[in-house]
Amino acid sequence: MRLKVILNQLSVILDKNIPGDIVEFGCYIGTTSLFISRLIKQANSDKEFHVYDSFSGLPHKTIQDASVAGSDFKAGELKASKRELVRNYKKAGLKTPLIHKSWFSEINSKHLPSTIAFALLDGDFYNSIRDSLDLVWPRLDNSGIIIIDDYNKSNLPGVTRAVEDFFKTEKANIVHQTDLAIITKP
Ligand SMILES: C[S@@+](CC[C@H](N)C(=O)[O-])C[C@H]1O[C@@H](n2cnc3c(N)ncnc32)[C@H](O)[C@@H]1O
Repeated sequence: MRLKVILNQLSVILDKNIPGDIVEFGCYIGTTSLFISRLIKQANSDKEFHVYDSFSGLPHKTIQDASVAGSDFKAGELKASKRELVRNYKKAGLKTPLIHKSWFSEINSKHLPSTIAFALLDGDFYNSIRDSLDLVWPRLDNSGIIIIDDYNKSNLPGVTRAVEDFFKTEKANIVHQTDLAIITKP
């Protein structure tokens, strides 16, 4: 269901050829990235696909990530290597995306598309979502779509808190479907 929603939203962007490129913040070993790449290929789209990850796993939690689930998700968990991601792409016979190894807070703007049509933000923690929103929102095309994973999930409360805090000062349409928030410009 999660994947279906993500791909349906991406299809809308590709069908309408909304200006800008596609980004995923937190790609891990590329499980969802592969589906995104396959859809871009099927649509014959010339959009670039950028993926960003520390490739060192999750950062440390902050107070905003505290939950009853307590010790779930520790720093360094979900560590993938760039090599593993590339290997998964080779296996699938797909063109590798543009891979950026960095903490989101340290991404240089020259490594970001100037316009973003579609973004999947899957960084799990408060600061990871805030940092990726800071980078994506100003570059999002007026008809673009942001999808945030793990929204309203009790064991990852920082995600919802980050979205609520970020959009206190920015106007946006926010719709929930499954564990996803779908965000568009008004
Ligand atoms: C849940 S996984 C992503 C799963 C992937 N989107 C998928 O659907 O298969 C979260 C990833 O985000 C990365 N990550 C989380 N916070 C980050 C940050 N602040 N900077 C860089 N990478 C981060 C972790 O390294 C991890 O690989």
